[in-house]
Amino acid sequence: NLQGIDIRAEIERLRKERNAVILAHYYQKPEIQDLADFVGDSLDLSRKAQATDADVIAFCGVRFMAETAKILSPQKTVILPDMDAGCSLEDSCPPEQFAAFRAQHPDAIALTYINCSAAVKALSDVIVTSSSAEKILSQIPKDQAIIFGPDRNLGGYLARKTGRDLILWPGVCIVHEAFSETELLKLKAQHPAAPIVAHPECPPVILDHADYVGSTRGILEYAMAMSGDTLIVATEPHIIHQMEKALPNKTFIGAPGADGNCNCNICPYMALNTMEKLYVALRDLQPRIDMDEDLRVKAKKSLDAMLAMAS
Ligand code: 13P
Ligand code: SF4
Repeated sequence: NLQGIDIRAEIERLRKERNAVILAHYYQKPEIQDLADFVGDSLDLSRKAQATDADVIAFCGVRFMAETAKILSPQKTVILPDMDAGCSLEDSCPPEQFAAFRAQHPDAIALTYINCSAAVKALSDVIVTSSSAEKILSQIPKDQAIIFGPDRNLGGYLARKTGRDLILWPGVCIVHEAFSETELLKLKAQHPAAPIVAHPECPPVILDHADYVGSTRGILEYAMAMSGDTLIVATEPHIIHQMEKALPNKTFIGAPGADGNCNCNICPYMALNTMEKLYVALRDLQPRIDMDEDLRVKAKKSLDAMLAMAS
């Protein structure tokens, strides 16, 4: 029973007492983004987790992100406010099936999106994030066969953009799949001067209308640099919080789903984290990420390759 407890004050007290750093993704609730020590995209959050000298990493994001923090910083206690904060891309790619897929393409290397389990990372050669994928792909010889999973939309986007042939795993993000082209075009007709920005997890019918495609950080940077006063944002709408904070006089509109509003594009996994659960996690140091050391070492190889090639 948390009644009568000043949650925010308790979080402040505990973060000092525990020497904890609070890392948050841009898809977290505004109140969590506002108290975090650092808010970022998947790549920047990985780098922060690796570099921190805190004893505890309170990871406000989804499980694969917290696992990545643990893989890179094994001596730290990594807590995740809700252990059920998964990801539909991770769910689409069970490690046994991924191993079988690899076995069907023995000459291919596995370039794998960070949105996957530690077991799939351990089966991969190089991990990428949406902000680093193009740079990493450009360093792989042109004649090298490549498996790309689990996101077929990011993989398809990369293949179209670079002209490379990628063997795609058929996973999707349920959040980015939910945008409606029809509703987006209706919105665009109401705001003809507003550019559209989109995350590469969106399907091609959405990406085809985008003026800019990039990671959450890339999308934010586009917003900061734009000269117009209205922007249509085709990614999880919580990122708009950072835009409104930095540019209060501009208008940011979440791209719509089939019902005409952007509520169906809220990530249900990210939304599981709350201030109350963050407080309890800092208090109890639970739920905590634990990982088999053999698995961690194997998964770290592909993440280290990412960090080296993305730098
Ligand atoms: P970013 O790396 O662009 O922050 O993407 C993470 C994610 O889960 C997008 O759905
Ligand atoms: Fe996974 Fe999609 Fe949620 Fe990102 S938005 S964490 S890819 S389900």
